[in-house]
Amino acid sequence: MARIVYVNGQYRPYAKALIHAEDRGFQFADAIYEVIEVLSGKLVDATRHLVRLERSLSEIKIASPMGRAALLHVIGEVIRRNRVRHGVVYLQVSRGEGRRDFALPDAAVAPTLVILARSQPPAKMAAQAATGIAVKTMPDIRWGRSDIKTVMLLPACLAKDAAKHDGAKEAWFIDATGHITEGASSNAWIVTDAGVLVTRQLDHRILGGVTRATALDAAADAQMKVEERAFTRAEALAAREAFVTSATNTVMPVVAIDGQMIGAGTPGPLTLRLRSQFHQTAEISAS
Ligand code: PDD
Repeated sequence: MARIVYVNGQYRPYAKALIHAEDRGFQFADAIYEVIEVLSGKLVDATRHLVRLERSLSEIKIASPMGRAALLHVIGEVIRRNRVRHGVVYLQVSRGEGRRDFALPDAAVAPTLVILARSQPPAKMAAQAATGIAVKTMPDIRWGRSDIKTVMLLPACLAKDAAKHDGAKEAWFIDATGHITEGASSNAWIVTDAGVLVTRQLDHRILGGVTRATALDAAADAQMKVEERAFTRAEALAAREAFVTSATNTVMPVVAIDGQMIGAGTPGPLTLRLRSQFHQTAEISAS
């Protein structure tokens, strides 16, 4: 469990890391977040995460709480104070606190910044990658701007809970046209019979995953064929391999969809190759 949490300029003990009852993040989900992998005490793809954070903030007009260098300094401090070698950093910026009002406050309100870091044993992730995970498909009931990384995560929570009840680790959302959008907290990929990696094109329906972007680079490095396009549930069920990408899982094999085995029901070779290539392609930087 994280022991020290950064809240608005202070490093606080976990139990005392508090925000105001009228914080807009709490009342309206008026907040943006990022999750960054920590590997050997270093940050994975920090630049891509901070660029996306700046984009998300600007899309909903929240002021940046501090510059990129200062933010990296605080992130590094949180990692060190919590002695995290392998794990994740969670960072959240809300529009700040004020009397409950739907209309946005004027720009003078200071955003709330929370940063915490948590260890995640690599052996546990490796064990999961060795067996692969099951996913369950669900209708995508989220708002139309899933490209912005807001904390409005209730549809994802409910979908993951339904998946969990079916023995699955992740939910894959399906849009009104029958195409997979993405996972509840990951991007969705399949490998076709012809050995082509397919993941949905970037649009307002999905988050532009940092791991997705680096996995595309890694696939290019490994000379794999890739198509960025939407695919249906039927195509996914007939796929040779499937996997998800996210900062918490890097590349995680999917071995079953809605209880139906994918390929041989074991992690696919292209998936495992991409997983082993991933950190060689990613930006790894001192925090
Ligand atoms: N989730 N799509 C959704 C809806 C996500 O929530 C995430 C990340 C991704 C993958 O993005 P990235 O590769 O940048 O992590 C795609 C994080 C890990 C979370 O909510 O914990």
